[in-house]
Amino acid sequence: MELQNDRFLRALARQPVDRTPVWMMRQAGRYLPEYRASRADAGSFMDLCRNQELACEVTMQPLERYPLDAAILFSDILTIPDAMGLGLYFETGEGPKFRSPVRTPEAVAGLKAPDAERDLDYVMNAVRTIRRELNGRVPLIGFSGSPWTLATYMVEGASSKDFRHVKSMLYGNPDTMHQLLDTLATAVTDYLNAQIRAGAQAVQIFDTWGGVLSTPAYLEFSLRYMEQIVAGLIREHDGRRVPVILFTKNGGQWLEQIASAGSDAVGLDWTTELSDARARVGHRVALQGNLDPNVLFAKPPAIRAEVARVLDSFGPGEGHIFNLGHGISQFTDPDHVTAFMDALHELSPAYHQDS
Ligand code: CP3
Repeated sequence: MELQNDRFLRALARQPVDRTPVWMMRQAGRYLPEYRASRADAGSFMDLCRNQELACEVTMQPLERYPLDAAILFSDILTIPDAMGLGLYFETGEGPKFRSPVRTPEAVAGLKAPDAERDLDYVMNAVRTIRRELNGRVPLIGFSGSPWTLATYMVEGASSKDFRHVKSMLYGNPDTMHQLLDTLATAVTDYLNAQIRAGAQAVQIFDTWGGVLSTPAYLEFSLRYMEQIVAGLIREHDGRRVPVILFTKNGGQWLEQIASAGSDAVGLDWTTELSDARARVGHRVALQGNLDPNVLFAKPPAIRAEVARVLDSFGPGEGHIFNLGHGISQFTDPDHVTAFMDALHELSPAYHQDS
């Protein structure tokens, strides 16, 4: 199937494009009334993920509203620990929870990486269904959490502010921590490769909590395992390169090391200046980012000014994928997203005139 819009893949390969491609983390989600309706039909968020028709429906919803250059699989990073038997559930307003957190060496030793094709077949079915429905309109992004980020949820049993349990394992029992991360790295590699075989045309690893670590701990307990995963991924499928994007929230201080881990692109949150990032690593990787999602709470003129500032910070030339630094809030007005898209479409071609 020919891709009708390959801007996203071209930018990842640092090839010329006519305008800066864009997608948004959590582009399918609660800020859209049609998403809330589909979720009500499904019953719950996980039921939505497990139903390939409905997962496909919500993946397509933001593409119907906005001129996005990529679709992202509708699923969650916590599908892997769920498949490991930890019992994932969502308490309204409180985020994800696990019935059986993993806190002891015995519990870690008892974990096995799931067989992605068998135990996470609902995710692969969703990927295949979405690819069929997209019919080449834009590429499909697959994703996973990083081993460290998955471990934080598995050990804490829920979202955390101080990471008390997982850090006491990291500092007090580093061998157990490494054993858990190693199992997760195997699981993530297998999971992403299964998504690629099912039709994901690029993959992103979300390291949402890497930024809560010290520099040596980040390198040893997070980046090292992402590097191991990248080395094990299928990088060409169906005659095309399958690019890999690494995103560590609050990881700006480790850019050089992240850019050396073997990925095609690095995702940036809004706390890292793009001009600075480009000077540091732009000759090695493409850069994805980095509008502060909360800019979308302001009125359209302020949104436009900030889009202009982000484009200017990267500057003219190739290798930029526009993205919200960390995902769109459920309280965002969908019309403000329209203002964001309009500004980007109007302003970004000027940065690609020599292409
Ligand atoms: O459109 C997309 O971007 C694809 C779908 C997607 C979801 N989660 C759907 C979702 C993606 C890529 C994720 C990744 C994810 N999930 C991350 C990494 C990204 C990040 O935010 O840094 C993390 C940490 C999770 C774990 C998770 N899942 C949390 C903390 C929550 C609760 C968040 C909240 O706002 O309540 C979820 C639930 C979740 N995942 C929702 C969606 C649309 C909201 C569920 C709902 O409908 O109530």
